[in-house]
Amino acid sequence: MIRFVTGTDTGVGKTVAAAAVCRAERQAGRTVLYAKPVQTGLGPGEPGDAAFVAAAASVPVVECLRFPEPLAPAVAAARAGEIIDVEALLADLTKAGDGFDRIVVEGAGGLLVPLWGDATMADLADRLGAGLVVVTRPALGTLNHTALTLEAARARGLPVDGLIVSDWPAEPGVTESTNLERLWAMAPVLGLLPTYPGLDTADPTTAPPELAFLTAPSPW
Ligand SMILES: Nc1ncnc2c1ncn2[C@@H]1O[C@H](COP(=O)(O)OP(=O)(O)OP(=O)(O)O)[C@@H](O)[C@H]1O
Ligand SMILES: [Mg+2]
Repeated sequence: MIRFVTGTDTGVGKTVAAAAVCRAERQAGRTVLYAKPVQTGLGPGEPGDAAFVAAAASVPVVECLRFPEPLAPAVAAARAGEIIDVEALLADLTKAGDGFDRIVVEGAGGLLVPLWGDATMADLADRLGAGLVVVTRPALGTLNHTALTLEAARARGLPVDGLIVSDWPAEPGVTESTNLERLWAMAPVLGLLPTYPGLDTADPTTAPPELAFLTAPSPW
């Protein structure tokens, strides 16, 4: 089974959420591979999302393609003078995931970020036959961003497993509490991830030793 972790935006907590999903899967006794099809914004050897997940979840990880500029994959690749061969990427992901109970694939940015040509992250999820996990913020603005993402997913016939809310405050106020109620009305909320002070996914040494959902999420 493949889960495709997307988000309402870049920097919304997809890597943190993907790590939490991987850790929960592993703790449930399943074998799990984390895959980052395209990592942008980093040079060779710099720790990317995969390095953070490896540190936070102790699962095998794979990164397929990397481009140095912090841009959408299609744009970063073109500016690096390279192409993204979507068929080859799909083949690489399928081969890497062979034999694992679960594959957790993290997109880049949000659902309609361009991958190559007309293809977006949504097409990648579709071709993988993955269920979507949409990571969203608890703060003001999340209802619109989440609704837009879910509408785009549903318009494309993509199955939505549910939402993960990251950076959930220790003391939620009226904004977060009412947002959570409304998010539940849009899709199942699979879990809340608390705010881990000092967490920075660019630095794997900040990975929390016990990264876990606040509420026991239903599928994990
Ligand atoms: N639960 C959390 N606790 C503390 N900080 C968080 C949490 N979730 C997200 N953040 C903050 O947001 C930053 C970005 O999170 P993350 O890297 O997971 O986003 P992303 O959606 O994967 O971004 P990208 O599109 O670059 O892959 C983190 O480095 C951290 O500073
Ligand atoms: Mg990420």
